Amino acid sequence: MITEIVKIDFSKPLDAQVQKCAETIVRGGLVAFPTETVYGLGGNALDADAAKKIYAAKGRPSDNPLIIHIEKPSDAEEYCLTNDSYYKIANAFMPGPITVILPKKEIIPFSVTGGLSTVAVRCPEHPVARALIRAAGVPIAAPSANTSGRPSPTSASHVIEDLSSKIDAIIDGGDSEIGLESTIVMPRDGGVTVLRPGGITVEMLSEIFDDVTLDEGIVKKNESASAPLAPGMKYRHYAPRATVFLIKDVGNADFDGRVKRFLKGKLDREPLTGVICFDEYRDEIIGKNVFYFGKKADDDEHAKRLFDILRRFDKTDAPEIYATASDLRGVGLAIYNRMLKASGFNILEI
Ligand code: TXA
Ligand code: MG
Repeated sequence: MITEIVKIDFSKPLDAQVQKCAETIVRGGLVAFPTETVYGLGGNALDADAAKKIYAAKGRPSDNPLIIHIEKPSDAEEYCLTNDSYYKIANAFMPGPITVILPKKEIIPFSVTGGLSTVAVRCPEHPVARALIRAAGVPIAAPSANTSGRPSPTSASHVIEDLSSKIDAIIDGGDSEIGLESTIVMPRDGGVTVLRPGGITVEMLSEIFDDVTLDEGIVKKNESASAPLAPGMKYRHYAPRATVFLIKDVGNADFDGRVKRFLKGKLDREPLTGVICFDEYRDEIIGKNVFYFGKKADDDEHAKRLFDILRRFDKTDAPEIYATASDLRGVGLAIYNRMLKASGFNILEI
């Protein structure tokens, strides 16, 4: 199949530019599109066959449910059983990088929800995503537009790398603003459980709910018999080919000094060592496979760059990768969670 690339011109009206892609989705085809978090691989969420095509294009296990994307929070009424918590979240954070798990209505096929009786609902903020949903007139089921197991795509070129010739079209709307997938929450009596951390932080959720808990697997290897609440969180993800080690700050004095000495030692012995570190290390930590991902305190920048850097490593000859972990506050928790998965929970305490 020839995949058409549709480049968006933000100085012109969007609706006309996405019209053909919207028709492709209504016809049962697949179109990758930009959102503020990562690129999504969209198909008609009311069409069981479209969902099957999505799983096939990604090589994704079919027990891993898809998120349905809607234009307005109230559109959820048609597809699931909403509740007060949903509207509390919607009023505070939608449109935006948050996904809510709710009991599904019959109209949503089980192939979209991986057989579950709940469905994940998200109302994205990106103007192209919104224009596409509006023009299609159906909810759009969309996982991240990567091959299963690879980092989520934060640019059209990442999508082209993974899905070219497997889907009908890719809408190129530039780089994703946030760079990490949406926060996923499940409402429950008295509060919410966070299944996947993201741009809407635990701190932000705590402003509207008294009780915000984290699903176990977010910062710990899931060793219990119970599966994570979001089926997708159980899969090894984001992992480059080389082994990744995550360097964690456990409060020892002079963390930066220790880490720099450690990295220098590694690079002296093996100049091809891969490194992901803060901009502040730039003068001292230098090498062919060293990537800087923003100032130490700039979580937003780390979030934006992480997946692109992980993908770049697959084009290098780095035998091992050492990455400095961010602070766990705010969006730092989401970055840490993705890095943990990329490292397969390989943590170095220095
Ligand atoms: O930012 C995002 O959420 C992006 C953009 C495209 O919107 N989408 C995305 O989708 O990250 P995906 O499929 O890569 O991740 C969806 C996650 C998976 O971990 C899946 O298991 C979980 O959401 N999920 C979906 N439906 C669920 C449900 N009914 N119950 C629990 N978890 C669910
Ligand atoms: Mg994904």
